[in-house]
Amino acid sequence: MAGYGSRYRLAIDFAVLVSGSGTNLQALIDARVRGLKVVISDVAEAVALDRARSAGITTEVVPFRGDRRSFTERIVAVASDYGVEALVLAGFMRILGPGAIDRFPHRILNIHPSLLPSFPGVDAIAQALDYGVTVTGATVHFVTERVDAGPIIYQKAVPVLPGDDVASLHARIQKVEHEIYPRVVASFLRGEIQVENGKVVWT
Ligand code: GRF
Repeated sequence: MAGYGSRYRLAIDFAVLVSGSGTNLQALIDARVRGLKVVISDVAEAVALDRARSAGITTEVVPFRGDRRSFTERIVAVASDYGVEALVLAGFMRILGPGAIDRFPHRILNIHPSLLPSFPGVDAIAQALDYGVTVTGATVHFVTERVDAGPIIYQKAVPVLPGDDVASLHARIQKVEHEIYPRVVASFLRGEIQVENGKVVWT
């Protein structure tokens, strides 16, 4: 019986947070990742919301108002109303405050279009092109208080090809994102990904 709890743990419900086009959300929908209760956007016009509605998923809009702390409180309150135990960021362009990390410890995932710790921040693809790297990629990581610096869960490399611009490289990276994010999120929801001493351990 000792291992029963961890081996057969039930999958947990989650919210997806978006701000934009929502192609990663679409990948999660298409992969039929179970437990998605609500899609929350800070941008009312986000195409991601149309994708959610088309799939019959409940949506909520939480515009950024006031300061980061009060915005974070509102996001956490809305997510909690749906009984979710994890947040999956998919092109969410706001930084969540400590209130969210305290409420969902090691239960907030993000996908970033570079091989972290290289090129954190909003313009990761332009940074990679400017630097001249020949390999970049996508990183799924836990969100902590330091932006794009939480424990790394999974990474996959993507080549930078001669003549690439931001659009062509982003498209190549996004193909990889759409492949890896649903798989990693599903593994996480099954309880297969833990953090020990600041590092990810797959079980
Ligand atoms: C993705 O490239 C992701 O890495 C970054 O924002 C982009 C979101 O794209 N965090 P989409 O909204 O999922 O299409």
